Amino acid sequence: MVALPTSRGSVFKDPRTLCPDYVPPKAPFREHELEKLRAVQMDSRDKPAEYRRVFITGRYGTGKTLLTKFYAATTRQDQQTLYVNCIDCRGKIPSLLHEIIRSLKPGFPRRGYSLYELRETLAEILRKHRGRILLIIDDLDILLHKSGSEGWKNLQDILKLEVFDSTLNLTVYTINHIDLLDRMDFLNQALVERDLFDLRGYSKTEVEAIIRFRASLAFREEALGQDFLTEVAEKTSSIGGNLAYAMELMLKAGELADLTKSDKLTLNHLYEAEKTVHPRFKGFLLEKLEKHEKILLLSTARTLKRKPYGEASLSEVEEEYRRLCRILGYKPRGHTTLFHKVKNLSLLGFVTHKLSGLGYRGKTTLLGLPGTPPSLVESRVEESLKISIKNIYSKR
Ligand SMILES: Nc1ncnc2c1ncn2[C@@H]1O[C@H](COP(=O)(O)OP(=O)(O)O)[C@@H](O)[C@H]1O
Ligand SMILES: [Mg+2]
Repeated sequence: MVALPTSRGSVFKDPRTLCPDYVPPKAPFREHELEKLRAVQMDSRDKPAEYRRVFITGRYGTGKTLLTKFYAATTRQDQQTLYVNCIDCRGKIPSLLHEIIRSLKPGFPRRGYSLYELRETLAEILRKHRGRILLIIDDLDILLHKSGSEGWKNLQDILKLEVFDSTLNLTVYTINHIDLLDRMDFLNQALVERDLFDLRGYSKTEVEAIIRFRASLAFREEALGQDFLTEVAEKTSSIGGNLAYAMELMLKAGELADLTKSDKLTLNHLYEAEKTVHPRFKGFLLEKLEKHEKILLLSTARTLKRKPYGEASLSEVEEEYRRLCRILGYKPRGHTTLFHKVKNLSLLGFVTHKLSGLGYRGKTTLLGLPGTPPSLVESRVEESLKISIKNIYSKR
């Protein structure tokens, strides 16, 4: 959640425009891909629903989500967009179906139905549906990792529903790791190749132009300095052009400027912001974690702070987790549930996990962080859980 500026002295015009859900009024440097998407949609009209599809691949922060949402917002009016994110569904087909149904029938429960019941419900709703549908399945990697070929097959079976033949215009999948597609030998590689849009990364000049454009939507003109924007662009290009990082960095710098009652964004705000933003830490995604996932992530970071060699056993992390739950007044979850949560955190890229090798008695799960500093993870999760270190220490 982004706090809206309350005082007149804020550097922000609208901080929400820096959040990943925001769809800007234009998508510079992606005009060609938008044209291509339109052409595919026109071309695929008479094909069976399962073949009306596109895979958009590209590294994290290259604008895949933006491209799909911008396309949906600017394409034909008589088409309804169903957007589902595999992260929100934690890669599970039933959850994904629940979400699709919820977008057609608001108020439908988030869980509780079997795959068969969901299929039937969806078919029933679609039979009565008027107009065509654009289906966007974002971050497919998560589904492929979690549910594998079985999940993919289930999804394709659903898209083969007869009612989809007359309702579905196009399915767009986005994927962060293109090599994942090669490893999916159950996919028809020739078809994948045909339907593939591989987004090139932005050049340094493009990164800078996009940052300037997005900053002009988020900040008051008088608050922006050239050196600030140049430095954000420099830092973003140096890590490969991940624009999600740039947005988070600008948001944090703006919050710091407001906190210090400064009416201009300076390099100092940027350097301070850098202490809490990391290219490998998906800060915006943190808000999508459940409470116990956050506490588990916090326990991992806190345990790892004490470990110079960078790995902690699950039992050590669990001990810290139970301690934190006790302090915070939450009922701790059991071992099996926690193990599932570890797998989810790993799926979303917050932790790494593997089985121990030599040097450990028996087999144990070892947890690590994917190159993110433990103290940064700790402070971000604490901030998100709205607790302070001081609070925790004082209750020990
Ligand atoms: N061409 C562009 N113009 C404006 N903003 C962009 C552009 N490309 C990416 N962004 C912004 O950069 C951030 C990261 O893009 P996103 O679509 O979330 O990346 P991905 O889905 O590939 O990880 C988002 O805030 C997005 O709006
Ligand atoms: Mg995305």
